[in-house]
Amino acid sequence: MSNSTSTDDIACGCGINQEDENLIICRCEEVTRAEIISAVRQGARTVDEVKRRTRAGMGLCQSKTCSRLVQRIISEYTGTPIADIQPSSARPPVRPIPIRVLAAFEPEE
Ligand code: FES
Repeated sequence: MSNSTSTDDIACGCGINQEDENLIICRCEEVTRAEIISAVRQGARTVDEVKRRTRAGMGLCQSKTCSRLVQRIISEYTGTPIADIQPSSARPPVRPIPIRVLAAFEPEE
């Protein structure tokens, strides 16, 4: 663990050092901390805005693993309390439907 401070640490005041920037935050989509910070620097202020720019949260777990980490990075960078950062939109899980189920479907008349 390094206690060094980079120029970026001072610029953003978020305590992020260069070593941490390659850390994978979204394992499903392999999105690094640096990519999320870049999205925040470009104006992303919610988890969904970061998702649109980086794909973090679009993976198999549907952001169950990375959403809170993304919120924390946004909070660290912007100084906004985590409670005030809009979380990811909740959507029902998508599951494959066997074609035989669809083929057997008969609409009510
Ligand atoms: S870890 Fe980000 S979508 Fe799964």
